[in-house]
Amino acid sequence: MKSLMKLFASLLLFVFFSLLFGDIDVVESSNQNLRFSGRNKLFVFGDSYVDTGNTKTTDKGAWAFPYGITYPGKPSGRFSDGHISTDFLAKLLRIKLPVTYSKKDDVDKTRLQYGMSFAYGGTGVFDTQVNYPNMTGQINLFEQLLGNVYSPSDLSSSVALVSVAGNDYLYFLSTRPLIAILPFIKQVVNQIEVNLRRIHSLGIKKIAVPSLQPLGYIPHFAKGSPFIKDAVNFLVGHHNDLLHEVVAKLNNETNHSAFTIIEYNNAFLTVINNKGY
Ligand SMILES: *[C@@H]1O[C@H](CO)[C@@H](O)[C@H](O)[C@H]1NC(C)=O
Ligand SMILES: *[C@@H]1O[C@H](CO)[C@@H](O)[C@H](O)[C@H]1NC(C)=O
Ligand SMILES: *[C@@H]1O[C@H](CO)[C@@H](O)[C@H](O)[C@H]1NC(C)=O
Repeated sequence: MKSLMKLFASLLLFVFFSLLFGDIDVVESSNQNLRFSGRNKLFVFGDSYVDTGNTKTTDKGAWAFPYGITYPGKPSGRFSDGHISTDFLAKLLRIKLPVTYSKKDDVDKTRLQYGMSFAYGGTGVFDTQVNYPNMTGQINLFEQLLGNVYSPSDLSSSVALVSVAGNDYLYFLSTRPLIAILPFIKQVVNQIEVNLRRIHSLGIKKIAVPSLQPLGYIPHFAKGSPFIKDAVNFLVGHHNDLLHEVVAKLNNETNHSAFTIIEYNNAFLTVINNKGY
């Protein structure tokens, strides 16, 4: 498991390096300013794939064993035994981990300079079963801080990480059959487009969006017939096709490649195929 995570982590790092910062050679040059093109804040929106601890500690969930046992050594509010994308991206930007929205009033004000995470585990672009803000609500929280905590020039040197890892679909499928999902995929991607457009118009000029990982391999689907696994992965492919179209459209409109897809789907498939599943 550990080597699997390591492989995944290095894949992810590679993808971040090459897509967000351009030429790898530039990244490895000794010039610190060139390296990260002055991007020194990270704002995070989305779900458990990027949430570093916004959910209430009383909710247990990510605040209970065995979460966090590899990193940081105890449950920390991450829905993982170790690091998650937010940790990797902050490390890459050479900044401290952005503070979580829920802790923003408890930390030293200097900590706010690295950005903030508004991501809550279990959420989607639409409402899911959890009692935390959907992505629209998360962007509202961000917007309320603009002008007082963060200035326009802060935002122009920032990166946003926007994760939609499938809670909308899992929630949808908890009450409806797989066959009903096709039109819903379009709605989800349309809502992602609305959210991306809004984050960009609020002033963040570099926005990274993971593609959807092959959900067919999660135990809930993989334990059934192979047909279910394949059907779910096919639908994930459809989601990702639509996502690529949206990002191409947004990049064309904004004309400076503001939006980048991080290929989680390929990274997961590489790991899974190497393991022979
Ligand atoms: C987001 O959450 C709010 C509050 O629950 C709700 O009114 C709104 O319709 C939701 N937005 C979307 C796009 O589902
Ligand atoms: C980009 O946008 C222009 C109009 O703004 C349009 O004419 C052109 O076809 C678009 N290109 C692509 C690849 O979508
Ligand atoms: C496109 O780029 C030009 C030059 O960089 C800039 O002046 C213009 O505002 C940009 N358009 C949009 C829609 O961002």
